[in-house]
Amino acid sequence: MAREIGVMTMLRRCLALGFLALLLALGQPALAQVQDQGRPSNEELQLMQQLQGQGPLTGRVSIPDQRAATLIQPAGKEWRDFWRGTSPWIGGIAIGGMLALLVLFFLIRGRVPMEGGRSGETITRFNGLDRFAHWLTAISFLVLAITGLNIAFGRDLLLPLIGPEAFSAFSDAGKVAHNFLSFPFTLGILLMLVLWVRDNIPSRLDLEWLAAGGGIIGHGHAHARRFNGGQKAIFWSVVLMGGAIAVTGYFLMFPFTVVADVGGMQTTQMVHSVLSMILVAIILAHIYIGTIGMEGAFHAMGSGEVDLNWAEAHHDLWAEEIRARERRETGTAPGAMPAE
Ligand code: HEM
Repeated sequence: MAREIGVMTMLRRCLALGFLALLLALGQPALAQVQDQGRPSNEELQLMQQLQGQGPLTGRVSIPDQRAATLIQPAGKEWRDFWRGTSPWIGGIAIGGMLALLVLFFLIRGRVPMEGGRSGETITRFNGLDRFAHWLTAISFLVLAITGLNIAFGRDLLLPLIGPEAFSAFSDAGKVAHNFLSFPFTLGILLMLVLWVRDNIPSRLDLEWLAAGGGIIGHGHAHARRFNGGQKAIFWSVVLMGGAIAVTGYFLMFPFTVVADVGGMQTTQMVHSVLSMILVAIILAHIYIGTIGMEGAFHAMGSGEVDLNWAEAHHDLWAEEIRARERRETGTAPGAMPAE
């Protein structure tokens, strides 16, 4: 048995190391290519130096939209440098770094097992509406993330792999999906905010949870109510960053309505892309914990029912509260709510 576990661990480590090497190999040339394509010509650089610190160079137009008179907007160079140079690094470090961290974490910690095994008794963790709000947000976010990353990196990473025809078809459909799925994503965030904000107010318990390593680093468990400190961090990241991503996304979708000028649109685009890449990295960690990282966690959002042993290990105060309520409702014992 011990020998079997040893072989499994070795296999897991080899797989993970292979994956890390693949990540590094894929990332290097892509970043170099992105930076190469963003390099302006010498003439362009000279002209930009002359225009530095000045406003846009404009001509004259006879149509009402005076923005059409802009010939050169020097600040656009900074935006392009950011888009072709800095942004791939931010995305690469945030997303690639998070993937590498998760692989390392899996190597060291393995899957967090359910303490005491399954009890066979379950309690309801999320009802139908909770799960609807979660999966509405999750599915739309996943499509938004894939299609958004395609807008940012597809030309450098995907086009060489699948060729121009397939890439055009995918990107065309992806852009439509990216625009339309913003609506269910926003609705999902609003629903989660209404449903779960009450249980996500930060408290002293969250600091204790953090100090105890969240029950994942190390082996002890700190007390937790319905959501622990880590889950609250995920919740607020989704609500605040997701909200900001949605708002900036609508500004981009309806250009020059709320944001008046080109400079403002460029800033909006930078905020939208940087926040999105960071949120993708955070959500990767969330998906890891909700699937392969922790035994028994997925059921919470799958069937909505979790094993009592899982609930008592990770959310002891919440489990006690639910059981006390059940006892009160069925009249099996005098109800007593636990003190914090
Ligand atoms: C395949 C993708 C995903 C899986 C498997 C997954 C899984 C889960 C699970 C099992 C829970 C319940 C944890 C508990 O019992 O407390 C949960 C909660 C939650 N999920 Fe997801 N999720 C996914 C994607 C997403 C996405 C894309 C978002 C948002 C953009 C999201 C936001 C949340 C939030 C805010 C919570 C409540 C706080 C927390 O438990 O961390 N999830 N998810």
